[in-house]
Amino acid sequence: DRRVKIAPSILSADFADFGREIRAVEDQGADWIHVDVMDGHFVPNLTFGPPAVKAFRKHVTTVMDVHLMIAPVDPYIEAFAEAGADILTAHIEAGPHPHRTLQAIRAAGMKAGVALNPGTPAGAVEHLLDLADMVCVMTVNPGFGGQKFLDMTGKVRRLRQMIGDRPVHIEVDGGVDPRTAPLVVAAGADVLVAGSAVFKGGSVGDPSPYGDNIRAI
Ligand code: DX5
Ligand code: ZN
Repeated sequence: DRRVKIAPSILSADFADFGREIRAVEDQGADWIHVDVMDGHFVPNLTFGPPAVKAFRKHVTTVMDVHLMIAPVDPYIEAFAEAGADILTAHIEAGPHPHRTLQAIRAAGMKAGVALNPGTPAGAVEHLLDLADMVCVMTVNPGFGGQKFLDMTGKVRRLRQMIGDRPVHIEVDGGVDPRTAPLVVAAGADVLVAGSAVFKGGSVGDPSPYGDNIRAI
């Protein structure tokens, strides 16, 4: 389905060669590049800060979709804007003032996303939909790539209904592969994050297997 965007998560890429990995997936059909920022506090893992994200920006020619798994969020919004994020997504569980956070993301010139952990119901973001450009439904507990898909199709369907005719993307993140992708697309998702399913096998080969991996999703 061509209306559905594929956003490879570089969490599963070769960390010693991000430039080449980003180019390889963009050349082979990636619509967006998904960057997972983790703080060792909101989630039990550490990844990249704004300087690394700024370095990725030089290689991204599509859309840089930055997923913050950090708390607090607000003190870092400006830094991620300067790093070149196109979309900045914060978790609804990350703090008590989500309207303020989404407004600040837009005020800094980015599209604003709000993410929900698997344990958080759809209704938690109902009153934020006018301030959001995207809702990200987590289908794993965030922190690591390669985890087992948790079925959140009911949540995706309810969100699509709540969103109505607003121009809000629904992104699904975690365990997306050729088996699970059709389930979430049928429920109303239009952006699919995929890490291990895209980067599996490594970029060896000419062309690399990434194109086939992307098309299989
Ligand atoms: C999970 C991250 C995801 C993750 C997806 O904490 O937010 O973006 O990298 O990886 P896969 O597709 O392997 O589940
Ligand atoms: Zn993510």
